[in-house]
Amino acid sequence: MTQEGTNPVLTGHEVRELQLLIEQRSGIVFDESRERFLTSRVVEHMQHKQLQYGVELLRMVRHSNAEYDTMLERLLTQETRFLRYPGLFTAFERNVLPDLAARKFWDRQQKLRIWSAGCASGEEPYSIAMAVSDAFGAPPRMTAEIMATDISREALERAIRGVYSHRVLENLTERQVSIYFDKHGAEYSVHAMLREMVQFAPMNLAEPVYLGRFDCIFCMNVLIYFGAELRSQLIQRFHACLEPGGYLFLGHAESVVGVPVKFNQIILHGARLLQKPLEPLMGGE
Ligand SMILES: C[S@@+](CC[C@H](N)C(=O)[O-])C[C@H]1O[C@@H](n2cnc3c(N)ncnc32)[C@H](O)[C@@H]1O
Repeated sequence: MTQEGTNPVLTGHEVRELQLLIEQRSGIVFDESRERFLTSRVVEHMQHKQLQYGVELLRMVRHSNAEYDTMLERLLTQETRFLRYPGLFTAFERNVLPDLAARKFWDRQQKLRIWSAGCASGEEPYSIAMAVSDAFGAPPRMTAEIMATDISREALERAIRGVYSHRVLENLTERQVSIYFDKHGAEYSVHAMLREMVQFAPMNLAEPVYLGRFDCIFCMNVLIYFGAELRSQLIQRFHACLEPGGYLFLGHAESVVGVPVKFNQIILHGARLLQKPLEPLMGGE
């Protein structure tokens, strides 16, 4: 317990122990550039928990998953926006979705499966739902099941609530705001039409779980927080669960370079898309 007016004591050794624990359990690496952020957030957390010494915190988070999760919540970066990369969402709506729909038509399937891995507070999966709805019209010629997962339960609660301030809607057109949101005072609530397409679930990407096959996987601005080995394993997992011809969307600073899987790179509307090659036709070369 902290004594009145004293600052928590956290040694360099304890910081390294925490770094190790977080990387083992959640895959997140706090390298030198993020060590100060880690230390200041952990000290804040110790103040909040009224802990005087780092060793008390280490004992607590090692023995209780709930305590570990509460500490981790303070350390996650959850910056996000609707249509975060506008060019990428244009390519998704105008090129990717019609391409997938044409293939599904011949397979007589009417539903696309899309995964938003690391969906934060919901802006990304709702943007995907909006693009699907804009691409397929009303009533839709095709629908999508969007699985949206994140390690943060607090972010998922905000996502499920689906209420946003005007500031985070800045990339949307007036038409999109008026169709896809209900205005309540200064806040905007996501319309049921989009909510019905998205299913939220907690998931730690450092623990492999099989979710089935997907037509598209969005994992944007998540891999940058992981070490090289987990990054490579995840890209291989994404490749394995994408349908042939399916698409992977990564953030601007992320790539599949050096990972032993084949993706075709396509540049459209200034955005980089990664497509899993289609299976060769039977009897073809
Ligand atoms: C910067 S946000 C990116 C949000 C969104 N994809 C975007 O690009 O706007 C990173 C998200 O990854 C989540 N995250 C970090 N580590 C994770 C893990 N091991 N498993 C699942 N999600 C994780 C964080 O909670 C956070 O919501």
